[in-house]
Amino acid sequence: MTLVEGEPGVAPAKSRFDAEAFIRARMHVAPLSAVPEIRLYVAHPGSRLSLLARPGEAGAGSPPPYWAYPWAGGLVLARYFLDRPATVRGRRVLDLGAGSGLVGIAAAKAGASAVIATETDRNALVSIDLNARENGVAIQILGEDITGDPPPPVDLLAVGDMFYDPALAERVTAFLGRCLDAGIEVLIGDPGRAYLPRARLRALAEYRVPDFGTVRQAESKPSTVFTLEPSR
Ligand SMILES: C[S@@+](CC[C@H](N)C(=O)[O-])C[C@H]1O[C@@H](n2cnc3c(N)ncnc32)[C@H](O)[C@@H]1O
Repeated sequence: MTLVEGEPGVAPAKSRFDAEAFIRARMHVAPLSAVPEIRLYVAHPGSRLSLLARPGEAGAGSPPPYWAYPWAGGLVLARYFLDRPATVRGRRVLDLGAGSGLVGIAAAKAGASAVIATETDRNALVSIDLNARENGVAIQILGEDITGDPPPPVDLLAVGDMFYDPALAERVTAFLGRCLDAGIEVLIGDPGRAYLPRARLRALAEYRVPDFGTVRQAESKPSTVFTLEPSR
């Protein structure tokens, strides 16, 4: 897949950015230490992801490449689905804010009947596609913000590590509440980010996993799978 910056058909050739070529050339694909059943393209010190932000470079203006790492919240959800496949088996699962696609890939591997991954970063869409192929699973990839939409036609909504920004957390929490009211189960994986809606969560499982959202990234720390409870 080749993505073009700007509106399809109107971007000048100079602004073309081949995210697939970038990922294949600059990232390593390997099993994850916390979830060895899954292989992902992951950035390493030589990846030079800074090129994505540098003015004048092909990928300039891209959002921070959150898709280049598995986040702690996504890792625990993936671990949970693979350890307890009955959670997703035969069910339609939506991975909101999919990043690398880790959570959706785990759901597909654990037997979900269909998986949708949503992302607003167009480079992430390429990453999800590559990673799904690498793991031999089919995922429907949606490059849209669905948090203002009515609840989607799925059985389970999985959210890995989306509570790091106050405005985003508020929008996502409201959307998840509407999904829950519509009968959709909502599971959240999170290491305790600042804007996690703790009052409405019940912990289901905890694992120690690396956290790419911290400065000391190699360090493992507890991260939790929560279920969203109805508001009282
Ligand atoms: C911290 S990353 C987590 C990625 C992945 N879930 C994981 O755990 O590895 C959060 C992701 O949410 C995406 N995102 C932010 N707002 C979004 C929205 N409204 N809809 C879909 N994705 C969104 C970002 O682009 C980013 O890739």
